[in-house]
Amino acid sequence: MTFRAHILGAAAGGGLPQWNCGCENCDLARAGDIPSQTQSSLAVTGDGKTWAVLNASPDIRQQFAATPALHPTDLRKLSLASVLVTNGDIDHIAGLLVLREMQPFTLFATPGIHDVLAQNPIFDALNSAVVTRQTIALEEPFTLAPQLTATLFPVPGKVPLYLEGEEVQTDLIGDQTVGVKLETSDKTAFYIPGCAAMTDDLRARLTGADLLFFDGTLWQDDEMIRARLGQKTGARMGHMSMSGPAGSIAAFADMGITQKLFVHMNNTNPVLRPASDEKAQAEAAGWIVGQDGMEIT
Ligand code: MLT
Ligand code: MN
Ligand code: ZN
Repeated sequence: MTFRAHILGAAAGGGLPQWNCGCENCDLARAGDIPSQTQSSLAVTGDGKTWAVLNASPDIRQQFAATPALHPTDLRKLSLASVLVTNGDIDHIAGLLVLREMQPFTLFATPGIHDVLAQNPIFDALNSAVVTRQTIALEEPFTLAPQLTATLFPVPGKVPLYLEGEEVQTDLIGDQTVGVKLETSDKTAFYIPGCAAMTDDLRARLTGADLLFFDGTLWQDDEMIRARLGQKTGARMGHMSMSGPAGSIAAFADMGITQKLFVHMNNTNPVLRPASDEKAQAEAAGWIVGQDGMEIT
């Protein structure tokens, strides 16, 4: 009933502006002409009091500071129940290192994602005496926070960039990239910040949902190549783009989802410019372009 979601960070890895990027959007953000956005994270609560953080971005220190609901309520006391990570990408796990100050919470992830963390001993900075790492199997509902049930499910994706081998499958279905179903007593929301493609499984799951936060990395697949920022397409990075016949705007057009928001926007995405045609097109198609600090009830 008192479900609330708070976008802590609406940008993809790198943020807006990205430290080394001189693209149009990054320059505009640096100049203060468009809003800056921090990296990918969402806070949710089922009782309006105790929060879970979905993905721990490198900007988490700043994100907590900007969010009164996540401020300490007493000496070293915080209304944070848990942190859940949906893949092992740096933009989703590096913030765990910021959360190392002996603060109790439960860290939820799939076996595959917990393995990635376990293979990186720097994460032992999260003292196991206070931070409980709980492994969550796919399709098994669990209590994420009071009055808030979550279920993890696989979405097409790839292993983190730093674990890529010679051959990379970009639409792997497994436990390395997951979506999150969030349920209160009467509402259902989905959080899917990374997804390579629409599948029949996804369509069936999401049809009729009350609320969706979805991967908005790129507007078009070759956006970064056109901007002369690199050779990678969105597909190669494991992200479906917003526009085009195979894009998310088309894919979600007729699924009866009450409220749809884009999150995890790359800094090149034109929807990050408030006055862009692309943002207007996304809105005309029924989408909200997520922004840092946006609250959804
Ligand atoms: C992604 O979403 O594709 C990754 O976060 C890329 C990265 O690790 O920088
Ligand atoms: Mn990312
Ligand atoms: Zn840029």
